[in-house]
Amino acid sequence: TSKRRVIVVSNRVVKPQHEHVGGLGQALKSALAGSEGLWMGWSGETREKPSVHESTVGNMQFLVRDLTDEDYRCYYRGFSNSVMWPLLHARPDLMAFDPRDLHGYLAVNRHFARQLHAAVREDDIIWVHDYHLLPLAYQARELGVRVPIGLFLHTPVPAPATLSLLPSHQRLLSMLSAYDLIGVQTETDALNLRDYFEREHGARIEDDGRVRLDNGRGFRVKPFPIGIDPDAVAALAANGSRADAGKRDDGIAQVIGVDRLDYTKGIPERLRCIDRLLRDDPQLQGRFRFLQVAPTSRGDVDAYRELADHVEMLVETINTRHCGADGWQPVDCVREALPLRKLAALYRGSKVGLVTPLRDGMNLVAKEYVAAQDPADPGVLVLSSFAGAASELDAALLVNPYDVYGTAHTVARAIAMPKAERRERWQAMMRVIRQNDIHAWSRSFLRQLREARTPARPVA
Ligand code: G6P
Repeated sequence: TSKRRVIVVSNRVVKPQHEHVGGLGQALKSALAGSEGLWMGWSGETREKPSVHESTVGNMQFLVRDLTDEDYRCYYRGFSNSVMWPLLHARPDLMAFDPRDLHGYLAVNRHFARQLHAAVREDDIIWVHDYHLLPLAYQARELGVRVPIGLFLHTPVPAPATLSLLPSHQRLLSMLSAYDLIGVQTETDALNLRDYFEREHGARIEDDGRVRLDNGRGFRVKPFPIGIDPDAVAALAANGSRADAGKRDDGIAQVIGVDRLDYTKGIPERLRCIDRLLRDDPQLQGRFRFLQVAPTSRGDVDAYRELADHVEMLVETINTRHCGADGWQPVDCVREALPLRKLAALYRGSKVGLVTPLRDGMNLVAKEYVAAQDPADPGVLVLSSFAGAASELDAALLVNPYDVYGTAHTVARAIAMPKAERRERWQAMMRVIRQNDIHAWSRSFLRQLREARTPARPVA
């Protein structure tokens, strides 16, 4: 049975030849490398008359569909990124709910469901990704698809009381019961989702963690912490730093942050922490650099535009406040996406990786920073307790990103940390990163999905 074809559906589809920063696409790309499969999703284009584009690379077939401008506005910019994203990251204050967006979201999912129905074969299993596609299994079942369907949610799952702030949550989230397996990043996320179904849908939680609804439908909710390919990152980092030798020896302590420019990432808080650090330790004048890589993301959503202005203003203020007579400035903010090859070398050249999201499903930058270090002289990871990665990387220096003073103090400690302690912490983190790498993640999810029973009766 291990030879069953896997159909992956995700909003973003990343072809093998593409190089993109982190996130879901990159992870899936390495998870699927070398296996037989079909990957479906959005082409990334908007067209008045959407069409489906087919291509094949090795064993992977790609089927991507364009969106109309209206699809894009309702499904992607609207419901996915102005409602579900803030809600799942516990920012209901940023939700901009419009029932027309929900309508468009369901309509685009229905397009994908029809495409899925047309492509699926009896022995396939279907693996759906993320918050853009929550209703997909339900809609595919309505069309008669019977094979196992799993969902992996890359974001956090907030407390049940927060989930129920979503208008129409009863209708939309009950559709999740058409999946056979729902994977989340952490144990807390799994607990929150099960509790939500218990409180809001009268579900029973069975001994094996299965959620059983009144209509007889049952589905499993389980954590599958996503990982990286540590050897690939290490190799890129070692090559990159040979090409760029001596970076670490210029007497400057470099601290690095790498994030899509997103309000969940805690970038303003991080900049305030750097400001604090420089005020508290004048010795750092001329001997310190904070490099923030923050490519634009979802730039047509208001909350992201406002964040971009805010970050720019903060960088300017801090640089003006602390600049040296020789033109030295402490903060450098790069607003472009850099390929992993470049990032890996930058990670290796940085004494501290500062990963301080206010909320994050996993955060793969944390893992990549660690994997890129020189084993003989590794840097220190300062990590938010509110990233999924914190439940695995407890050998990092964990911080509360809302505590600007405490975080500044921890960064100072990281810069000064003796080599023996850095190595010990690094080794502990690498053990977990190797054990839960990207291949282990996809293997264990797919194994459990294959074993998940197909529904006894249709949900529709
Ligand atoms: C997060 C989400 C992914 C998404 C990525 C980039 O990692 O979990 O689903 O693809 O951000 O965001 P974008 O809106 O550009 O796809």
